[in-house]
Amino acid sequence: MARTAGRATAAKLGTKILSNDRVTIIGRTGQGKSKVAMWVLSQIKSPRKIILNSKPDKDLLVKWPNWVKSIKDVPPAGVTHVARFLKFPDGIKGWDDVLGLWRHGNMVFYFDELPNHANASQWSGHLQQIYQTGRSVGVGAVACAQRPVNVPNFTLSEADHIFIGYTQLKSDREKLEGATGVQWDILRELPPYHFGYYCQRAGMTEPIILPPVPLV
Ligand SMILES: Nc1ncnc2c1ncn2[C@@H]1O[C@H](COP(=O)(O)OP(=O)(O)O)[C@@H](O)[C@H]1O
Ligand SMILES: [Mg+2]
Repeated sequence: MARTAGRATAAKLGTKILSNDRVTIIGRTGQGKSKVAMWVLSQIKSPRKIILNSKPDKDLLVKWPNWVKSIKDVPPAGVTHVARFLKFPDGIKGWDDVLGLWRHGNMVFYFDELPNHANASQWSGHLQQIYQTGRSVGVGAVACAQRPVNVPNFTLSEADHIFIGYTQLKSDREKLEGATGVQWDILRELPPYHFGYYCQRAGMTEPIILPPVPLV
């Protein structure tokens, strides 16, 4: 099993994160998912980034204070922070206008709390299209969730990059193993802010332990 020291760097991933990739980041509250997501977004060159904030996330509100409630027409260049605080399950339908923007192509969506948009059995058709056909139109997704059992299978099976924090529960590891085809035993021994990382495209046959990402 590969072990790495120091801080996570793009080189440690063994591959670039592209603007039309899907990135899934899993971990309990406080494990550092949002920090991983900010680092991932800083690596992605994309003309348009749409941050979907479905709970009043203090860090996002401070980092991007100029949030909007909706986007009219074509999304502008740069980062657009859309804040819309809908409790689950209202969020599954309540974001369809924003998710439908994927049809303009060339953008990255960031879901800070994917389970407010989807669960293991319910999701927006747009979300599925972002995961299944987004690549061909330059659309990527970065999504955070607390547990693998809480998300649609395609957000794991279609992910180009998976980051997962310390996970004790067997049911979570089993869902991951089913979706990725690799063993995730390392998740039982991860120190704080370390993540298990897997990318099939990089030729990996097992996940690696990724040290804490730099704070960006
Ligand atoms: N890579 C890191 N290096 C140092 N501290 C970190 C790192 N990641 C997270 N933290 C600390 O943990 C806190 C929670 O991280 P956050 O990304 O907000 O967690 P989550 O989104 O999983 O709830 C941060 O405010 C920060 O203090
Ligand atoms: Mg968070």
